[in-house]
Amino acid sequence: MDKIVIQGGIPLEGEVRVSGSKNAALPIIAACILTGGWHYLENIPRLRDIETIKEITSHIGMAFEEDGHCLKVNSDNITSYVASYQLVKTMRASVLVLGPLLSRLGRARISLPGGCAIGERPIDLHLKGFHAMGVDVNLEHGYVVASTDRIRGADIFFDISTVTGTENIMMAAVRAEGITTLHNAAKEPEVVDLASFLNLMGARIEGAGTDTITITGVQELHPVRYTIIPDRIESGTILIAAAITGGNVRIKGCTAEHIGAIVEKLQDSGMDIEKQGEEIVARGHDHVRSVDITTMPFPGFATDMQAQFMALMCLADGSSIIKETVFENRFMHVSELRRMGADIDINGGQAVVKGKAHLSGAQVMATDLRASASLILAGLAAEGQTEISRVYHLDRGYQNLDLKLAGLGARIWREKY
Ligand code: EPZ
Repeated sequence: MDKIVIQGGIPLEGEVRVSGSKNAALPIIAACILTGGWHYLENIPRLRDIETIKEITSHIGMAFEEDGHCLKVNSDNITSYVASYQLVKTMRASVLVLGPLLSRLGRARISLPGGCAIGERPIDLHLKGFHAMGVDVNLEHGYVVASTDRIRGADIFFDISTVTGTENIMMAAVRAEGITTLHNAAKEPEVVDLASFLNLMGARIEGAGTDTITITGVQELHPVRYTIIPDRIESGTILIAAAITGGNVRIKGCTAEHIGAIVEKLQDSGMDIEKQGEEIVARGHDHVRSVDITTMPFPGFATDMQAQFMALMCLADGSSIIKETVFENRFMHVSELRRMGADIDINGGQAVVKGKAHLSGAQVMATDLRASASLILAGLAAEGQTEISRVYHLDRGYQNLDLKLAGLGARIWREKY
């Protein structure tokens, strides 16, 4: 197994290009199930979760070919509608094959995703939506067993804004009979990217990016060539790497509009940030101001950036309050940051971070994807050496983050243990 070792205290300098978005690529690869033929997908990131969705969809008949920077996807022979427990248990987003399978084959048998480190994460809103569209949904032996003769359009109200719930129902609705309207839909850029991909295939989706999405069912869809959006969470993570080391970086190939709330909070903390087209130039300073954040669905402050921002606030001048409102158990990184000398009090979904002058390097353990990024950021700023184990969490969602940081001058490397 790999661990990551960091010698902290070096201001980052230089430029780096961000990879494609994991959370846009996952639903877009699943959406290829909807119609046969060859799709050409550009800017697909190379990371563990992408390999998992490719494995799950290969089991149901999808074929993949790498062609330079392009991932060619063929779904002529979708012969199975089963996603097994063995595969689904490694990645909750596997549930995204449910909507496309119901649309393509009228049936699906998907292992029910269990809980995860950051929360219970039920899919009741997905299933309630399918049920409203005339799908027969049952839970049998740990599997969601769903079938329908014909998906019908429906009015669907999400009690809570759900990203993959919106995406799953949208994919089931593109060839439904009639019109589907999603109320309190998720507005995340990844939802908009999926809608753009589906519309290019011939779907009729309006209102993506707002909280009301209307999908008029169509008969036919066709394969397309499509470029995935950049990963906004990777962009935000690298911005904080510059802030926490007092560095100066140029981030290339990113979309500043997708990280507006993060940029604003970093500017409040004293960082200089300039947007230049598809690039962001950012300069951190030795002095970091304490800033309060509350995580919220887009366009609010992304919960996937909470752990990374907390690492920065560990070095701020004064106390900051961090409220996590999206997931009920997303402070697993706190005990590891405390091992590095951080002063953090947790009270339910709120953490009070008392900023300090220094963090000290230590042996720490990653507990989930974004927690691992938070520990890397803390290690970049800490005095001495930090060793982070269980970095398989990191590799699920970041393409070579350690190599990108090394390219900016960080003393970071991997070792086997
Ligand atoms: C997506 O997860 C992302 N994953 C997550 O990123 C991200 O943290 C999350 O959205 C919020 O932005 C992908 O896109 C693959 P939700 P998702 O449904 O869709 C509750 C990362 O680090 N809920 O929007 O699973 C749920 O428990 C990952 O890249 C229900 O109660 O999140 C949560 O409290 C982690 N019932 C809230 O809604 C449901 O049926 C929002 O969850 C669905 C959700």
